[in-house]
Amino acid sequence: MHSSTQIIPETGAVPQHVAVIMDGNGRWARARSLPRMAGHRRGVESVRALVRACWKRRVGYLTLFAFSSENWRRPAEEVSWLMGLFVSLLEREANSLHRNQVRLRVIGDCTAFEPRLQALIHSVQDQTAANAGLTLTIAANYGGRWDLLQALKAMLIAKPSLAHNPERIGEADLSAFLAMAHTPEPDLFIRTGGEQRISNFMLWHLAYTELYFTETLWPDFDETAFELALQSYQQRERRFGRTSEQLKASS
Ligand code: IPE
Ligand code: IPE
Ligand code: MG
Repeated sequence: MHSSTQIIPETGAVPQHVAVIMDGNGRWARARSLPRMAGHRRGVESVRALVRACWKRRVGYLTLFAFSSENWRRPAEEVSWLMGLFVSLLEREANSLHRNQVRLRVIGDCTAFEPRLQALIHSVQDQTAANAGLTLTIAANYGGRWDLLQALKAMLIAKPSLAHNPERIGEADLSAFLAMAHTPEPDLFIRTGGEQRISNFMLWHLAYTELYFTETLWPDFDETAFELALQSYQQRERRFGRTSEQLKASS
């Protein structure tokens, strides 16, 4: 996939790749005096709605941050509920994703998951691998720093000569081993829940992504909220280092 720092990418009115930090489930639940888990469960509805909305608008790639490498720091009970929710979601949705031509990919260090979840991830990925519709990537036990380190290690194992000639290392040598090598770089990043931070999401890939932050809590993020994000995206001038005048002259 092309690198935005090496080649100026083609851009259009609709982002080709949308990446989302789905945040605010806990606060949604607390505002209703419900347990945090009720917010996570309700958040699954927002996932369904967003997958449909992306499908409708011909967004090619949707990436969702479901569980960060730092989320293990949460109470054990919440972590185990979240894992259970992931299992039941994959079990329930696999066939419908497949019917709708969705290709599902999971990125992150899956070795930390219980064997049943690992097997399920492999099976849904295999089942949907040849689908040509939306590529839905779920980041689970994912961290941007983990990704960079695992890519570096994998690159050096695959091409040991690079260790002796580090000056030969180019972007493409490393990026081929990053967990997101199957997608173009995100055009639009959305974080719900009001926080304005990256929280160790895709550190490499967000280099030229347009960032959009909204106060809307994830369980409330519906198609109208997504439309607002898309409208904001359409107003951006993506210069990739050039001047505004250069852009106008070239279009
Ligand atoms: C995001 O919602 C879901 C995950 C991190 C799994 P939170 O659980 O972080 O919700 P808040 O931020 O506490 O409201
Ligand atoms: C980021 O949300 C991770 C996911 C949405 C999975 P967090 O709620 O964990 O982020 P911080 O801790 O507030 O930065
Ligand atoms: Mg949060």
